[in-house]
Amino acid sequence: MNGEPFASAPHVVGKSALTGSPSEIPAEESLCPVVSHDWVNSEYKHLAVEASPKALSVTPGQFFNLLCPSPDVGELFFRRPQSVYRIDRARGRIEFLYKCVGRGTRGLATLRRGDDLNMVGPLGVGFKLDPGWRHIVVLGRGVGIATLGPISQLARERHVGVTAILSARNRDFVMADALFREAGDVVSVLDTDGTSAVENVECLLQDLIAKGQADAFFTCGSNRLFQLMKRLGRAHNIPGQVAMEQVMACGLGPCYVCVRAFEVSGKQELRRVCIDGPVFDMQEAVGW
Ligand SMILES: Cc1cc2nc3c(=O)[nH]c(=O)nc-3n(C[C@H](O)[C@H](O)[C@H](O)COP(=O)(O)OP(=O)(O)OC[C@H]3O[C@@H](n4cnc5c(N)ncnc54)[C@H](O)[C@@H]3O)c2cc1C
Ligand code: FES
Repeated sequence: MNGEPFASAPHVVGKSALTGSPSEIPAEESLCPVVSHDWVNSEYKHLAVEASPKALSVTPGQFFNLLCPSPDVGELFFRRPQSVYRIDRARGRIEFLYKCVGRGTRGLATLRRGDDLNMVGPLGVGFKLDPGWRHIVVLGRGVGIATLGPISQLARERHVGVTAILSARNRDFVMADALFREAGDVVSVLDTDGTSAVENVECLLQDLIAKGQADAFFTCGSNRLFQLMKRLGRAHNIPGQVAMEQVMACGLGPCYVCVRAFEVSGKQELRRVCIDGPVFDMQEAVGW
């Protein structure tokens, strides 16, 4: 490319014109130095960056659109959305837990300590925690486990009990066990021993409902687990929220790549996952 910089080179190409406090700026583009970046298992990496004040104002369930370096000689045009896995305000850090699946995440995986990560965000509508709830249940699988980290952190800070049901192929993929243990109880369910079967997860949820430990449901990462929580939520009148991982391009609203159908008061409604979500009312979402 004759020394021409790639669009995916880590240059700041714009920043919010507003100069007020971080809360007044809707989202900004920032260069965040990588402080650690390690493999968690054969497919997932854990990435921690030093975040700007605006980036640190991220709330659980929100995401950043990351400019991933190209992993090869080609160009990488679009940013890749990643929700925040942990917010460490005391140390000024934001952490991501991501699966390497394609060119974007393979490029992201090449970042080393000291490199800058170009992030746009925080973006989207995140989870809500009702002050009346005493105990919540989070149910995640795969990359969805990462998305549920911050809401569990927030619940712990607000003295709300958390039961985390983490579903995975095998023990190696039960990630973030420690983070969820800090927040409350953790139940791992695996494909290898059959405990991840929907019927078994249903028994676990019914048990929590019977014990009065399910004031609200939160889920991400599996359509069949989402459908299960939605059904039980409807039957027992338990409010629920689902974080959706829809393919995105701009992440900001104008391109309409991320539109999905929802069911609101018996009518179909189209919504953009990037700005109307990615977190939605469980009873309005129809799954994927
Ligand atoms: C709001 C949001 C939060 C997310 N948070 C996380 C997270 O915390 N951790 C994590 O590992 N992943 C997360 N994802 C998924 C992540 O964005 C994709 O894995 C990533 O964009 C894939 O890029 P790629 O270039 O590596 O793969 P590509 O080559 O683009 O695609 C490889 C495979 O991944 C699938 N894919 C591509 N984009 C998405 C997408 N947006 N969502 C789901 N599957 C996709 C493709 O269908 C394909 O099968 C999130 C997605 C969204 C929308
Ligand atoms: S990703 Fe462009 S509108 Fe949602």
